[in-house]
Amino acid sequence: MLSALAAGLNSTVFSQSSPPPPPNKNKSLPAQWMYDEKIFNLEKRAIFSKVWLLTSHTSFFKKPGDYISGNYVFDYLIIRDQNNNYQAFHNVCRHRAFPVVTKPHGSSLVIGCKYHGWSYNAKGDLVKAPKFQSVEGFDKSKNGLLKVHTHVTSQGFIFLNFDASSNPVPFEDHFAALPQEWGTLDEDAYELFYQRQAVGNFNWKTFMDGYQECYHCSIAHPGFAKMLDLDSYRVEPLSNSARHSASKRTNPEDLQKFTFVFPTNGVTVTHEMWYIMRTVPVTATTCRMEFDVFSRKGTPKEKLDEYKKFFTQVQQEDFDLCEATQKGLNANIYQRGSLHPGVENGVLFYQGRVVDYCEKHLEAERRAGKEIYPARHLLTDDDDTCPENRICKQLGNEGGELSW
Ligand code: FES
Ligand SMILES: [Fe+2]
Repeated sequence: MLSALAAGLNSTVFSQSSPPPPPNKNKSLPAQWMYDEKIFNLEKRAIFSKVWLLTSHTSFFKKPGDYISGNYVFDYLIIRDQNNNYQAFHNVCRHRAFPVVTKPHGSSLVIGCKYHGWSYNAKGDLVKAPKFQSVEGFDKSKNGLLKVHTHVTSQGFIFLNFDASSNPVPFEDHFAALPQEWGTLDEDAYELFYQRQAVGNFNWKTFMDGYQECYHCSIAHPGFAKMLDLDSYRVEPLSNSARHSASKRTNPEDLQKFTFVFPTNGVTVTHEMWYIMRTVPVTATTCRMEFDVFSRKGTPKEKLDEYKKFFTQVQQEDFDLCEATQKGLNANIYQRGSLHPGVENGVLFYQGRVVDYCEKHLEAERRAGKEIYPARHLLTDDDDTCPENRICKQLGNEGGELSW
């Protein structure tokens, strides 16, 4: 603790003989990272195609066959199968790419595509392809839904990983102690309170920059400042996540906790409620904010209304900050700013992760001599030398925007 404090002091106070800090130390990402579609596409390949993404919670699934669909750069569906396991797939039919699920949620152990009637079971196997029984060489077993890796924590948080390979980064290696951060979550004690979505005109990182510090709280969130002792606010980086905590003004022993889950999620668990916040990237300068909010059963309605009002107010304050900040970033006048190594350590930490993922991926692409799309499912029986594939290759653009 003392050495951490000393390290913090050392980073802000330089003696006459100290060497000058490296030029990029404690600097924000250049503005270009917040509006450039090329960088956004690189992030999709380098980050969103291969890290574990906190997507949903088992509370949304009551029985086998229950499913939800959504988007997290890629369109996906999650379904609970007959064995009560959670299966996830890209929401794209293997016949002609129509979405196999068109509702945000439903229940069925057989998913039927509404274009030509191909049907899949909850394990993603193709079980019916009308009229294809007479097509020579057609193999049903090679036309199942495209699988997405899942990991469900003991608290019921559902993570997806879109890496198309059979060996994505192991969940435990990626997050280390993250699940323990949430302790136990008695999901039966809570019920869905509300879900909310809002499209924001800002880059996903513009929002996460604000989430990762509370330096702005005393200025921008007067309600928050009344509730929490902001001097006690701490952000402690963990493996691909960060622990946020602050004492309540009414009771310093009572710590309010939030978790940042790289790259774009926040989780808050309190006695009365818990919620997942997703900042889903849509374009380089837009994202969709999504909130799944659960409340403790039996909490009086007035109390819940009060919470909802409070959180919506704080979220709106952040939303407005980000929309205005994004305008400043887009103008191409401002380049980059200085970040405080203490109160903005969380921003430095996660921006560092972003750069690290992008740098490593670009290096792998440089070595391969082409762009690498980890989420892309390649067909094993496709003929690489046929004219249609050859033409794509010759155009030298295997890319596209990499999203559904
Ligand atoms: S696209 Fe789904 S059955 Fe044709
Ligand atoms: Fe904020």
